[in-house]
Amino acid sequence: MSTELPPEVVRRAAELRKQIEYHNRRYYQFDEPVIADAEYDALLRELQALEREYPELQTPDSPTQRVGAAPLAAFAEVRHEVPMLSLDNAFEDGDVLDFDRRIREKLERDDTEYLAEPKLDGLAVSLLYEDGVLVRGATRGDGHSGEDVTHNVRTIRAIPLRLSGSGYPQRFEVRGEVFMPKTGFEAMNRKALEAGEKVFVNPRNAAAGSLRQLDPAATAARPLAFYCYGYGVYPAEALPATQYELMERFRNWGLPINPEIRQIRGAQGCLDYYRDLMARRHGLPYEIDGVVYKLGRFDWQAEMGYVARAPRWAVAHKFPAEEATTRVLAIEVQVGRTGALTPVARLESVFVGGVTVTNATLHNADEVRRKDIRINDWVVVRRAGDVIPEVVKSIPERRPADAAEFVMPAHCPACGSEVELEEGEAIARCSGGLYCPAQHKEAIKHFASRRAMDIEGLGDKLVDQLLERRLVDTVADLYRLTVEQLAELERMGIKSAENLVAALEKSKATTLPRFLYALGIREVGEVTARNLALHLHGLDSIIAADEDALQAIPDVGPTMAAHIAAFFRQPHNLEVIRDLRAVGLHWQETEAGPAGAQLLAGKTFVLTGTLESLTRDQAKEKLQALGAKVSGSVSKKTSYVVAGTEAGSKLAKAQELGVEILDESGLLALLGNGEI
Ligand code: IVH
Repeated sequence: MSTELPPEVVRRAAELRKQIEYHNRRYYQFDEPVIADAEYDALLRELQALEREYPELQTPDSPTQRVGAAPLAAFAEVRHEVPMLSLDNAFEDGDVLDFDRRIREKLERDDTEYLAEPKLDGLAVSLLYEDGVLVRGATRGDGHSGEDVTHNVRTIRAIPLRLSGSGYPQRFEVRGEVFMPKTGFEAMNRKALEAGEKVFVNPRNAAAGSLRQLDPAATAARPLAFYCYGYGVYPAEALPATQYELMERFRNWGLPINPEIRQIRGAQGCLDYYRDLMARRHGLPYEIDGVVYKLGRFDWQAEMGYVARAPRWAVAHKFPAEEATTRVLAIEVQVGRTGALTPVARLESVFVGGVTVTNATLHNADEVRRKDIRINDWVVVRRAGDVIPEVVKSIPERRPADAAEFVMPAHCPACGSEVELEEGEAIARCSGGLYCPAQHKEAIKHFASRRAMDIEGLGDKLVDQLLERRLVDTVADLYRLTVEQLAELERMGIKSAENLVAALEKSKATTLPRFLYALGIREVGEVTARNLALHLHGLDSIIAADEDALQAIPDVGPTMAAHIAAFFRQPHNLEVIRDLRAVGLHWQETEAGPAGAQLLAGKTFVLTGTLESLTRDQAKEKLQALGAKVSGSVSKKTSYVVAGTEAGSKLAKAQELGVEILDESGLLALLGNGEI
């Protein structure tokens, strides 16, 4: 018996499918959703309800049918009618020049044009469409036969179950890459970690593991995406002239195309594209391991042909690997300004992330233990973008018999003083203070640094020499250096010696917060230095303040108060301060910053959104210089919220609490004369 389908129900179901497919395309193809996730879900639920009520309405290409199939026992084999090829790799610019030259020679022409696109780090699939409906999805396998993963690719929302538009061949294959965007990968691993489950090492493994699930419901729960980059089975007479035109057609049929695809000219175009993408690589929402260049015209591609399993008309230009394995030759200990001892791995030199790496910080003894890194171990080293190289993990499977555990020394390697490990702190410290040559050197570098006394031209190497030749002991000695003394040092001439003496002279006129910060008191950063200057009026009252008085200052807790008081109890420190004043360092005692100090004392600001004429950090610095406090979150105590463009939840919160809101011009007026 068949129920009569009411025409309005048929109409509504068709309309819902069309809308859902449209929103899928907005989301996955254009990255520009026009409705909220909840609205999308409501459309889907309405369609599901209709299909439940009228099962005849259900079709395999309905968006409700993404997780349709029951778990499989095993994957079926799919033989590829057109093999799925791989790509040759280029690692250096020269390889790309060779690639382009071979093409120009064979085609006997000089105007080569390419399609360039990111090389996604996922896995290749082939999607078969018949009459516009997705009928099969297969992995690449060995290129000739792969696995039937139809039930799983159907769960990927970026992949249309039915094509839109018209003019597509009756039967054809789309090829592309299934991948996991970075945010999805991170969220998935966070959840796995919370549930005590295994995490994936990278998005590529996560994508591959997700697609090869026997239960489609498991794949559906994974945040997978897809971009097309080519074709398999395709009627020759229906192909357009170029790779780019084919991609445009795909796009019109609702298939997602990478927005970074570009048409470029010649080898130079390839290299420019490569450099641009490499610089932006970490900002892309997915992992890429290089770029791919494909000769643009299909007739040219046919002329170039294939060699073994790769086309002669395409090449993958790989980025330098960001991870490499190497050996730990030794674990040494570095002493910082405050005496903190940092274990550093000395590595067998290895080329990673585009540079040769020989050292990597191991942060502290806990970290060495947690990562189980031993001397002589093989380790994975990572250098991504411009960040400092780090040891990711050891490879215990390759551990040699002579591998030795790292032990934090009991005595400082620089001065022999005892090493202390404070209760509840992961950090070991040298107890030698300024007697320790390593701490001494770091203290001088800090004193001279830009945000402290800002002595231009006093770099690392110079400080080394000054200490080695005993020209300087305390920071006050810096101000007694003469042009003659300095001119004799390595890599110094009369001119640079004169410049340095002038820079030292200039630095004598400073502010109290800068001076306090330059002293390098433990835990005293710029904000605390400013607060001390603001609340205790003058260096002598700061020196005289006891721990209670110090704790009365905003943001100063018991530990910091103890460090500050201890610093000023040390006769040696007081002597250096006296000496610095004697050689001419001066500041205005009651001034907490540049002109107009304290006009905003007691006011709390929150900055949100983008400002046009200055950065948020600059605005913060200026506000603090006027005595204001700058906080990260809005509360009833907030005096003003400064809202730039695209201000978000903080602005909303300010409105909700009735906190006064300033725009950029209001802020500038305030910074200019302390009034709005
Ligand atoms: S084109 C004949 N384009 O790289 C051309 N491949 O090393 C075949 N891949 O198996 C591939 N992004 O999984 C092409 N934009 C892209 C790609 C890409 C990633 C993968 C693909 C292929 C492998 C070849």
